[in-house]
Amino acid sequence: MTTRSGGDRGSTARLKRLAATAAAELVEPGMVVGLGSGSTAELVIHELAARVRAGTVLTGVSTSRRSERLARRLGIPLLAPEEAPSIDLAIDGADEVERGTLHLLKGRGGALVREKLVAALARRLVIVVDVSKLVDRLGERTPVPVEVVPFAWIEPARELERLGGKPVLRHTALGQPYRTDNGNLILDVDFGPLDQPEALAREIKLITGVVDHGLFLGLTDTVIVGEPDGVRVLR
Ligand code: 5RP
Repeated sequence: MTTRSGGDRGSTARLKRLAATAAAELVEPGMVVGLGSGSTAELVIHELAARVRAGTVLTGVSTSRRSERLARRLGIPLLAPEEAPSIDLAIDGADEVERGTLHLLKGRGGALVREKLVAALARRLVIVVDVSKLVDRLGERTPVPVEVVPFAWIEPARELERLGGKPVLRHTALGQPYRTDNGNLILDVDFGPLDQPEALAREIKLITGVVDHGLFLGLTDTVIVGEPDGVRVLR
């Protein structure tokens, strides 16, 4: 289903804000909400915090230490995933959204494992993006992030090459190997546009040393897209 509503033209930041505001409106009092990671998801956290300040009862389950710090600072009560009776709704960003399937590529922010766990626990996953994130095929613009344990990471890197990818170990701006919140490394693997993401996802998961990857297939309930003319809802 596709619906449209009005809005102003504007920058990427404006489009992200439109999507974030629309997503926050889906949250009802008393809900347990998965709090995503990345700049768009952080806009949602700000929206939800404003609700909490206005007296709405909400509980968050964060998908990264960064989101946890932000939510805590803004006064959103938090639970660990295993403490939450259930997660009603998770709201998160994405790096690519495949138009036809709503499959996702996530993990540029390095939070993919926690994001996938919270998405799996949630009754509903709502994705918030600006229109630039829509693609015809996953992998068109973004490599597939693969989280690996630090020990002997060269072995999963070689296996990823055997699958046809070009893995690059992610580094911080200071040139140190990037560490996830789980203490692991990330290989950004360029496979080009993906013809069969399901088969690739299965193959990657079978590699020893791989924790998980940024292909989120069949998890999305709704995508809220910020566009110059308003928001578009894809289901
Ligand atoms: C982090 C993610 C983010 O959701 C993704 O990178 C999108 O971020 P942004 O909203 O800043 O574009 O997957 O691991």
